[in-house]
Amino acid sequence: MTSTQAVTKCPEDLFCGVNMVQDEDHMTDLEKKHVPVVCGPSSVKKGECFEVAIEVGKHMAHPNEPGHYIEFIELYADHTYLARIDFTAQTTHPTIKLCLSLDHVHSKLRAFSRCNIHGLWEGHWPIQVV
Ligand SMILES: [Fe+2]
Repeated sequence: MTSTQAVTKCPEDLFCGVNMVQDEDHMTDLEKKHVPVVCGPSSVKKGECFEVAIEVGKHMAHPNEPGHYIEFIELYADHTYLARIDFTAQTTHPTIKLCLSLDHVHSKLRAFSRCNIHGLWEGHWPIQVV
């Protein structure tokens, strides 16, 4: 756990703060089902369009039924808001592709997904904007 998480996250409460994978090499089933997996290029040019894919449940399928589903995915470039997609249970799946073009230097794409039972989760992708 990072020092930032220690201040902003209660480990015993999934609805307190933002949940993250603690050990990439030894993910729990809860982490596998909830972390948004972000995939994109490692380096992009300012102002040029590129594609990013985000999927919740890539490591292990997450339930998708009215009582338990992923409500939304939000995407940020560092702390700059980019997009939000809302989902409905059963009829939509928490997998999206977006075309982006970034005009400023950023170091990370950050995706947040929210499960109605297991709270908010963050995944990220390192990116260099040159
Ligand atoms: Fe869940």
